[in-house]
Amino acid sequence: DRQHDGRGPRADMEALNAALMQLADSLMPTPEERATHQAAFEAVSSLLQARWPGARVHLFGSVANGLSVRHNNDIDVCLELEGIELDDTAAKGEVAVAVGELMEAAGMADVLPLPKARVPVVKFVVPKTGTKVDVTVNNMLACANTKLLADYCAIDGRLAPLVALVKHWAKSRAVNDAYRGTLSSYCYVLMCIHLLQTRPVPVLPVLQQLPPTFRRTVGQWTCEFCDDVASLRGFGATNRENLAELLWAFFEYWAWRHNYTHDVVSIRLGGCLHKDDKDWTRRIGNERHLVCIEDPFELSHDLGRTVDRQTRAVLHKEFTRAATLLRDRMDPMDELFQHY
Ligand code: GTP
Ligand code: MG
Repeated sequence: DRQHDGRGPRADMEALNAALMQLADSLMPTPEERATHQAAFEAVSSLLQARWPGARVHLFGSVANGLSVRHNNDIDVCLELEGIELDDTAAKGEVAVAVGELMEAAGMADVLPLPKARVPVVKFVVPKTGTKVDVTVNNMLACANTKLLADYCAIDGRLAPLVALVKHWAKSRAVNDAYRGTLSSYCYVLMCIHLLQTRPVPVLPVLQQLPPTFRRTVGQWTCEFCDDVASLRGFGATNRENLAELLWAFFEYWAWRHNYTHDVVSIRLGGCLHKDDKDWTRRIGNERHLVCIEDPFELSHDLGRTVDRQTRAVLHKEFTRAATLLRDRMDPMDELFQHY
């Protein structure tokens, strides 16, 4: 039964949909959690602005793009300083260390600067609320992709609950850790957007293929897309698929339809590219390109680069497990999200 055989789910899709909607709802952050995140951002922001007058401070990541799930007590903050180039990681690392000293002096807990990381960062915890904060420097690509994801969310109300379920599934099944060779939350969001763009009747448009109304250059990269969400709301209305059908389609695609040998998922193009087109056909250093997900703006960045042969097998096994449960069980809910 590991083969795709064209059969659809056995479950009553209306009932399954109701259960999934309820689960997705329960995964949304509460107003209290949102207020805590906002307060943490404001506290960090005023400390940074007092130390670097005139600097801009941005909230990015899931708390900013509307794709945060409950009990995720992490916020992503970007300090924007003039005069540091995109690829000057040494200068960014020095600022990360200085931010660490500032936060230490301000009484933040567990301050951990990582100036040598691919993206230099300082991590710390706000005492009392326990909010975990990551501060990065001039991480303008992340700010731009946060806006792109937020705009996709605003176009169709099915994206956010689909992402919530996929993130919840990935955490439950222990396949949401890029450091251990599986995939980051951000990568799963891109995979969900790709699915919704490629339904036979699309749920989402391809914002980077429409006449751009938002333009920003970040280093060598051009971030441009149509951000006129008001005129695109209702784009997917002729697609009547519900959350259960879309979740099934997600797992079915990654279990049985995706071509892992040749394809690169691209939300920029709303489909797949060939690995040859990107020269992602072989291992270069630690970048293996076994599962390829193109970043929408930083086109040389493969979000699946950390996946190796062993973790690709784990991922594929989990996608197949989920698809098979959805196909064969009358009531797949508990097993689907069962802790690994
Ligand atoms: P949760 O914190 O799990 O709710 O998800 P998130 O959407 O905040 O994602 P995550 O914390 O993994 O990443 C924060 C942001 O960093 C993303 O939203 C992107 O804007 C940006 N980002 C850009 N490139 C990468 C990358 O290679 N890996 C990760 N993890 N994030 C990236
Ligand atoms: Mg985050």
